[in-house]
Amino acid sequence: MLVSAKEMLTKAKAGHYAVGQFNINNLEWTKAILLTAQEMNSPVILGVSEGAGKYMCGYKTIVGMVEGMIEGLGITVPVALHLDHGSYEGALACIEAGFSSVMFDGSHYPIEENIAKTTELVKLTGEKGISLEAEVGAIGGEEDGVVGTGECADPDECKEIADLGVTMLAAGIGNIHGKYPANWAGLSFDTLAAIQEKTGTMPLVLHGGTGIPADQIQKAIDLGVSKINVNTECQLAFAAATRKYVEAGKDLEGKGFDPRKLLAPGVEAIKATVREKIELFGSANKA
Ligand code: 13P
Repeated sequence: MLVSAKEMLTKAKAGHYAVGQFNINNLEWTKAILLTAQEMNSPVILGVSEGAGKYMCGYKTIVGMVEGMIEGLGITVPVALHLDHGSYEGALACIEAGFSSVMFDGSHYPIEENIAKTTELVKLTGEKGISLEAEVGAIGGEEDGVVGTGECADPDECKEIADLGVTMLAAGIGNIHGKYPANWAGLSFDTLAAIQEKTGTMPLVLHGGTGIPADQIQKAIDLGVSKINVNTECQLAFAAATRKYVEAGKDLEGKGFDPRKLLAPGVEAIKATVREKIELFGSANKA
């Protein structure tokens, strides 16, 4: 059964570790992440962007796939199915389809509009026991055609949104989606510390988990980050392993063209990446 992310994140905040959100793209991705979380006895959040939602034939298809897989694979660790960077309409559609968690990204709206729409969703998700993530300060980089510059959120605005009753809060602290450029200044810990001071026990979310050095991840967790999103790193690992298989000519040997063989190295590479992150984030054996 899918669960809200509330309990797992409250425990993570209190226990000074973070739960990983790993974005999914297809059956192989979902299977790799669920099996690894189970193997490591870790809670896990499956992230679905609106683009990935369309790619996987709609939110209902995804709910069916994930629920079926939890049963079919005997997954017993807590699993939240979460809309990543949702629009207001996207959040409504996911609530309707059976997601257990949604993000409403109103960071590109003026703060008053972000507050108004987030307030509506606090009510709707609250009635159904679904967790809600809000965002203040756009996360930089490019994701599904949405480009941000990596701004730092205003801690007072973070407090305003946190006080609306959201479950978790994503705040820009100089992080970006995708690979970090060579001249990246690193995370703004001053901003994070100020946000944490204003928002108290609210679990904070760090987007753009790909490529953040381990020491910065650790410091972010120490300063109140309880959910870390990883997407690109699994994609890079999958692509590299698939490339290696094809370049070695393995698809031309015997039945090496069988998709179950062709995609297997990529699945193993996603598993290795997720394993490494779960260890780094400290959520192993916290299911
Ligand atoms: P990366 O693709 O940089 O890992 O970011 C993932 C993310 O933040 C999803 O919301």
